[in-house]
Amino acid sequence: MLGMPGAFGLWRPEAGFVLARAAGGEAEILTLAVLPAARRQGLGAALMAAALAGAAARGAEAMFLEVAAGNAAALPLYRGLGFAEVGRRRRYYPDGADALVLRRDLRPAEPAAAAG
Ligand SMILES: CC(C)(COP(=O)(O)OP(=O)(O)OC[C@H]1O[C@@H](n2cnc3c(N)ncnc32)[C@H](O)[C@@H]1OP(=O)(O)O)[C@@H](O)C(=O)NCCC(=O)NCCS
Repeated sequence: MLGMPGAFGLWRPEAGFVLARAAGGEAEILTLAVLPAARRQGLGAALMAAALAGAAARGAEAMFLEVAAGNAAALPLYRGLGFAEVGRRRRYYPDGADALVLRRDLRPAEPAAAAG
């Protein structure tokens, strides 16, 4: 996967990793995983934050990802990072589960208009 054009990854040995790809002004999370013993300690969020920063540094303006509609751990993580649902792929996974397509803007927020 790291051989794909624009692919990059970050990992913490024996704990977890994220693989992402930035190309054509957009980026996607290819996979994110944290070992069960290392979960709920902030690593997933830290890996995602690093992937978002890495994608922005590579010129991407938006990050996309796919997640199973019933993934009770990943969905709150992604929503907490500002991802919003932009699509649903019905019966996308081999077990028949739907995939949600989530998106997050990577462009810096517009500066607030000066008062007065
Ligand atoms: C999803 C996954 C990467 C999360 O990693 P993690 O290191 O445990 O995540 P964090 O500790 O950074 O959690 C950040 C927030 O995500 C949410 N979250 C994480 N795990 C959760 C769970 N089991 N249930 C509910 N919310 C959860 C919480 O809001 C959490 O914040 P909090 O701990 O302050 O409540 C991990 O559970 C995993 O590897 N799962 C299997 C693989 C997978 O589903 N990958 C995603 C595929 S799209």
